[in-house]
Amino acid sequence: GLKGHQGAVLWFTGLSGSGKSTLAVAVESALFERGCHTFILDGDNVRHGLNKNLGFSPEDREENIRRIGEVAKLFADAGTLALTAFISPYREDRDRIRETTSRNDDFVEVFVYCPLDVCEERDPKGLYKKARAGEIPEFTGISAPYEEPAAAELVVDTAENSLDECVDLVLKHLVARGYIEESAVAV
Ligand code: ADX
Repeated sequence: GLKGHQGAVLWFTGLSGSGKSTLAVAVESALFERGCHTFILDGDNVRHGLNKNLGFSPEDREENIRRIGEVAKLFADAGTLALTAFISPYREDRDRIRETTSRNDDFVEVFVYCPLDVCEERDPKGLYKKARAGEIPEFTGISAPYEEPAAAELVVDTAENSLDECVDLVLKHLVARGYIEESAVAV
């Protein structure tokens, strides 16, 4: 049956500059308009607060993602659609969150795909340039790994598709999974 107001974790993962935050914010606002209870956790905000003591070593990234996963699951358990936008470069860390979500199918991994050269060209924060110049060690995609999801629930390509098209793909997926009603998606 329709899950109605049941909570879930919508986990957006991808390279820096792939468009995770932009997409998550746009999806959140579309869901909010449809009366869904939503909450968004974003890399650049969480790292200034909850996780300000963490850097970008593999260990710190693992702990960053673990904490965010735990917070997102609490919101999902409270009936909220929790959206997260973090690079989350390690497959194992993401899979661990899926495995520990109360209902396994309430973890929706959205792979925000964008080729590295396009992310680097966008370079919205100028960080790729710095990373190439050796000013930022362990930069994802340049000097630190990004492990692509092997079986994401959904893949969106932000180089090939517009933001609106990507939002629609996410909403359609949520309809298919029974989180929102068909009529709620604009065509
Ligand atoms: S994660 O790897 O632990 O999931 P998270 O999403 O929280 O990363 O933070 C990524 C953001 O931090 C990037 O968008 C970028 O603005 C900034 N950042 C600073 N240093 C790095 C780095 N070494 N690698 C990747 N992102 C970095």
